[in-house]
Amino acid sequence: MGPVAVAAGLAVAIGLLAAAGVSVAIARGEIAASPTPSDTPASSPGPSTIGPVTAGSAAQSPEPDTAVSVVPDPPIDDVESTWVVVNKSRPLEPLQWVPPDLVALTSLPGGSSERMRAEAASALVAMHAAAADAGVPFAVTSAYRSYDEQVSLHAGYVAARGRASAERFSARAGYSEHQLGLAVDVYASAACELKPCFADEPAGQWVAEHAHEFGFIVRYPLGYYDTVGYIYEPWHLRYLGPELAAEFQDSDAATLEEYFGLPGAPDYP
Ligand code: DAL
Ligand code: ZN
Repeated sequence: MGPVAVAAGLAVAIGLLAAAGVSVAIARGEIAASPTPSDTPASSPGPSTIGPVTAGSAAQSPEPDTAVSVVPDPPIDDVESTWVVVNKSRPLEPLQWVPPDLVALTSLPGGSSERMRAEAASALVAMHAAAADAGVPFAVTSAYRSYDEQVSLHAGYVAARGRASAERFSARAGYSEHQLGLAVDVYASAACELKPCFADEPAGQWVAEHAHEFGFIVRYPLGYYDTVGYIYEPWHLRYLGPELAAEFQDSDAATLEEYFGLPGAPDYP
């Protein structure tokens, strides 16, 4: 059962619960990046398997006998959804979209001039509190970036590193999850800020293990350049919402592309 079926399953389950009168809360759906991300090389399992809810036969079950296998489209094309999938072949639409509900991350270390969409910001604050309680606090390098900020940042990297190298870690404007207000780069030590060694630090290990509990995933895992189009970025966390993040975590997929059965996007069209 493909990941699309997950959405179907969720939608159907939610529908059934709603029909039963149960109230269900449904989750919808770097200008400052000082250090330069360090390059690292890059494989692929299959998609997840959380099946759709299909009711049993009427003879065996009091459940509704409507077998639902048709999948309502998961909102992966909807820029307003926390499920939207953006990569080198899936730009934001519209390209210069601005999230409507950005809030400041002022309570977080490094967050004084950073913003995220409200739901993601709340989740990040909660995740930071849990990490701090565990003795592994982190700080924010970069969260929301506007189209224009991404233009400047990307141009700077291209000037410094050349386009081919820069585009292994920096998205073109209109193609960055940071522009969604749903991505954040975090760090623990300056030595490993925007570097793969963040993954080896206690905070990096904690984040990799617990981010999904707060609705985040490590979006660019080690070894998936050909799928996601970027080098390993253990610091780049993408907010999906708690339901999808939990389903993703329980799946066999390592990337959103795999989870939703989308083609890999190593290059721009
Ligand atoms: N570093 C990620 C890929 C971005 O520029 O959005
Ligand atoms: Zn990032």
